Amino acid sequence: MKRDSFSGRFGIIAAAAGSAIGLGNIWRFPYLCGQNGGAAFVLVYLFCIILIGLPIMLAEFSIGRRAQSNAYRAFRILSPGRPWYLIGVLGIVAAFAILSFYSAVGGWTIEYIFRSISGGISSNPTEQFESFTTDSYLPLLHQFLFLALSLGIVMIGVKKGIERSSKILMPLLLVLLIVLCIRAVTLPGASEGLKFLLKPDFSKLTGDSILLAMGQAFFSLSLGMGCLITYGSYVRRNEDLTSAAGMIAGADTLIALLAGVAIFPAAAAFHIEPDSGPGLVFITLPGMFRQMAGGMIFSTFFFILLCIAALTSAISLLEVVVSFCVEEMHLRRGRATALVAVCVFLPGALCSLSLGIVPGLQLFGKSFFDLMDFTSSNLLLPVGGFFISIYAGWILKKHITVRELTSYGAKKFSCLRVFFFLIRYLVPAAILVVFISGLIRN
Ligand code: TRP
Repeated sequence: MKRDSFSGRFGIIAAAAGSAIGLGNIWRFPYLCGQNGGAAFVLVYLFCIILIGLPIMLAEFSIGRRAQSNAYRAFRILSPGRPWYLIGVLGIVAAFAILSFYSAVGGWTIEYIFRSISGGISSNPTEQFESFTTDSYLPLLHQFLFLALSLGIVMIGVKKGIERSSKILMPLLLVLLIVLCIRAVTLPGASEGLKFLLKPDFSKLTGDSILLAMGQAFFSLSLGMGCLITYGSYVRRNEDLTSAAGMIAGADTLIALLAGVAIFPAAAAFHIEPDSGPGLVFITLPGMFRQMAGGMIFSTFFFILLCIAALTSAISLLEVVVSFCVEEMHLRRGRATALVAVCVFLPGALCSLSLGIVPGLQLFGKSFFDLMDFTSSNLLLPVGGFFISIYAGWILKKHITVRELTSYGAKKFSCLRVFFFLIRYLVPAAILVVFISGLIRN
């Protein structure tokens, strides 16, 4: 079977950036940043992106392009008879865990689109957010809608269309975010929020916040579960993987930082605590939209773009599972997609309900929603990343990796030695240290 390939360099950048840029940047990054002291968290996050995220991204791309297959099969092809394919299995578990809460938050964006169009953003956005997310069936309905949309796209296979449109829509999201940043920093009292984001207070930095920053780097770049292995397999031999990886990580980080610049000054202006948790974006920005000229138009656009960004990410997660079912279990695409849908909706509904009418749905002192959110990014993805780095650094023959990174000698990659140092020593050691220190603390 001939494999699809992306159309040129912009194709892979657009597709992988579509996977990377999503709720992780605009919803998850600001709320974690707010809960973990602001600027110091941002600094640790940036270090994690550069020193851990980028090398793993290059490793995933190289493995995928070399093997020309999905993550599970890639390890079977490259190391037959060895258990490395378990990384692919772990990835499928991670995809389910992430999709369950991701679809819940995706549903919130749909609710906020409807609300913006109907002019239903109330003057007390905090209360409005809480009463919506704790409602008995509305969040479920919207979550279902979000999942149906993403499954529809995966099922009909209009991915190409999505890719093409996200080339226009993602830059539009960037422009809109810049407008929102300008509005936010000119609000009275905004400077407190900017200070929070830019002036590090290292006393706020705990071992836990380092773990959270590292987990967020994995989450935001879509690393550690084979998503980018699959995407790497669609990249042609002559494309330059290294500059693509740099652009993807750069765009992803830029969007997250801009989201911070839009949210924290606005939060300060409206006296919303930065550590108010997963509702932060949904509380702060609607407050600002209410005060802007044409605010409801901005609000509608913003939530539509956010929803599309979330959809392109959710699709990349679904693809991992669906392509496994199609290529390994020989299910038909339509059937595989429907099966995955049902399987995601069950834990997904538990996530939504655990915030509202079933507050007793708790494990280890966390709601089911928080548990899925926490364990996927801070446990499953880093464990996957650890083994991927060991594999790329020590198991895969060095000349193979070099060949992928230099696109078969056609491109120069001047940081090869740095790359091998990071992927062999620093990345696995850093993940271990963060984990072990976490175990000791608890
Ligand atoms: N990176 C996406 C975001 O920031 C979420 C995502 C998509 C993801 N695919 C992934 C996270 C694979 C981890 C692994 O919203």
